Amino acid sequence: MPTTEPATGPVDDRPPVSLADFAELARAAVPPGVWDYVDGGSGAETTLAANRAALDRVAVLPRMLTGVDEPRTAAPLLGRPQAMPVAVAPMAYQRLLHPDGEVALAAAAGAAGVPYTLSTLSSSTIEEVTAAAGDGPVWFQLYWLRDRGLVAELLDRAHAAGCAALMVTVDVPVLGRRRRDLRNGFALPPHVTAANLPGGRDDLAHTGTPGVSAIAAHTGAVFAPALTWGDLDWLRNRTPVPLLVKGVLDPRDAVRAVQVGADAVVVSNHGGRQLDGAPATATVLPEVVAAVDGRAEVLLDSGVRSGPDVLRALALGATGVLVGRPMLWALAAGGRAGAEAALALLAAELRDALTLSGCSDPGQARRLRTMTGG
Ligand code: FNR
Repeated sequence: MPTTEPATGPVDDRPPVSLADFAELARAAVPPGVWDYVDGGSGAETTLAANRAALDRVAVLPRMLTGVDEPRTAAPLLGRPQAMPVAVAPMAYQRLLHPDGEVALAAAAGAAGVPYTLSTLSSSTIEEVTAAAGDGPVWFQLYWLRDRGLVAELLDRAHAAGCAALMVTVDVPVLGRRRRDLRNGFALPPHVTAANLPGGRDDLAHTGTPGVSAIAAHTGAVFAPALTWGDLDWLRNRTPVPLLVKGVLDPRDAVRAVQVGADAVVVSNHGGRQLDGAPATATVLPEVVAAVDGRAEVLLDSGVRSGPDVLRALALGATGVLVGRPMLWALAAGGRAGAEAALALLAAELRDALTLSGCSDPGQARRLRTMTGG
């Protein structure tokens, strides 16, 4: 696969005024195969499109004359104060987007005062990333590997490096069939590896053959497909930090996660990258919130693109959101500075959305009413 040097600054002089603007910059900065890997979903990309459509259909009823002047965006996540109820979603192989990869994005999140979630498939080491985040919290995302000894080793390393929470992703027994990657024969360029896994890469898997996704082949070789609630119990007992279960859509699974002792569930369809035909997260969120009934935090991801989207999620009952692709766009567009600019923009948009809906803080937004149908 060709590797081109990612741009380190915006392609024109106009500052981005939306997260979508960063997408345009990113598309110009990275090779087409990398763009497709980031942008794409699974199957016919039905769920990918549904995420956006469902968020667009959520109308929030603003309250008037509440006397709010300058709302606070700060809110707790996992019981710890954050600059806003937003965390950076775990995303693999960030050095595909920029030479500084995870280190740049973690540093930006730390500076912005929001948690950074470090993927099992990070292309930088756990220790490099936690050092870069400074005082900012780093949450470690676990993919369950066939080798349980290796899982234990990763957990110990994450703990020793100071990771403040563990997020276990449960919606990837196998990788979703991502047609764009299959068509492109998507493979990692030599400078990008799974830096925390032994060997880093399976060279045989990364041949760049059209019709084969090297990422899917690698995942199939190292991930354990048959995870059970019993495994989660093992994980809970072994984990001294808060536990988030990511990839839950059915309220019954959310309740099981709470029973196992999860501190938070993440309502996620992996940004439309796993089961095509799974529902949009905004559609199922209210039922999950009702089922969890305050016993754990409920976060949402998949399609969040703006401050008003964060408000929508809060009004539907979420504690907060994870933001995925927009952070990779910003990383590709401008490295750490780009990611900081994107997070500052999101915070400014959230502040405006709170002001316009009459809320003095994100907690109040959870009491707003919503209507569907726009
Ligand atoms: C992801 N996602 C993901 N999730 C996870 O738990 N571990 C991972 O390593 C990855 N890797 C990954 C790579 C890329 C390129 C993307 C786009 C996504 C899923 C991610 O955490 C999140 O659920 C979605 O990205 C959220 O949707 P949006 O905000 O991208 O629409």
